[in-house]
Amino acid sequence: MWDRKDLVSINDLTKKDIEMILDLADHFKDSKGKKLDSAKGYILGNVFFEPSTRTQRSFQAAMYRLGGNVLTHKDIGSSREKGESKEDTIRVFEQYCDVMVIRDPGIGSIKNYADILSVPVINAGDGSNEHPTQSLLDLCTIRNELKRLENLKVVLVGDLKYGRTVHSLVKALEQFDNNSFFGVSPESLGIPEEFRNKDYEQVEFTDLNEALRNIKPDIVYATRVQKERLSEGEEFSYEINSKTMDVLPKESVIMHPLPRVNELNPEIDSDPRVIPFKQAGYGLRTRMAVLAILLGKS
Ligand code: CP
Repeated sequence: MWDRKDLVSINDLTKKDIEMILDLADHFKDSKGKKLDSAKGYILGNVFFEPSTRTQRSFQAAMYRLGGNVLTHKDIGSSREKGESKEDTIRVFEQYCDVMVIRDPGIGSIKNYADILSVPVINAGDGSNEHPTQSLLDLCTIRNELKRLENLKVVLVGDLKYGRTVHSLVKALEQFDNNSFFGVSPESLGIPEEFRNKDYEQVEFTDLNEALRNIKPDIVYATRVQKERLSEGEEFSYEINSKTMDVLPKESVIMHPLPRVNELNPEIDSDPRVIPFKQAGYGLRTRMAVLAILLGKS
């Protein structure tokens, strides 16, 4: 059972916890223009030691929508440029904030920060390890768009070794019945052993469209090839384009946590099965729900 103190790993959450968060997220669906006050009088500390657009801005928007305020840390222009450590920076933020969202390149770093901070801490990505609120918003997207979280054939494509979003996604979806996962990537960039389960199959990355034609997935979850994390010899690229759309079932969807680089050709953006921007939109209500719960206001 989730202690509702921090959200560091998707493993912190039971199936019931996930369903409760998604229900609350849907409750916040029509928050536009409404005067909500769940976070009134509270301040969120948004501390990102790695770049971000969606996670940082959607948490900021979520806090505003809940009636709260936000303090943002960026290394540039801060005393980090004078040599202040990350630990000291977050301990100072703790003095000014009631809840903190932290992204850091170090695997396991957010757990360490949560252990030293008394305010609730949300993991916004710890290196190539996990990104639990991305998975929650992915599940929110799937539940709303496909109307179920069970009986899904999910193809994960791209850099599955360093792509933290797919790690948390598999962990979250394996809690629901009869979901199967197909990792399509070069073997060296397959999903790490600790995230594989009995329903996971690694598919050799040779002909993506042929693989998709055979699998007939409900979801294709594409990820960026994270050049900044790859070792020498691990580089590769792929593209989903109109030819790919021709082999996919009519009821399937293509998801991507964004940012995309070359994985999704913009020529497919108008296809209703291509939903990465809708997916980013579900982040707002999902993060409102997580903030409200951690502030004890749900
Ligand atoms: N999906 C995601 O985490 O995007 P950002 O890196 O822009 O936050």
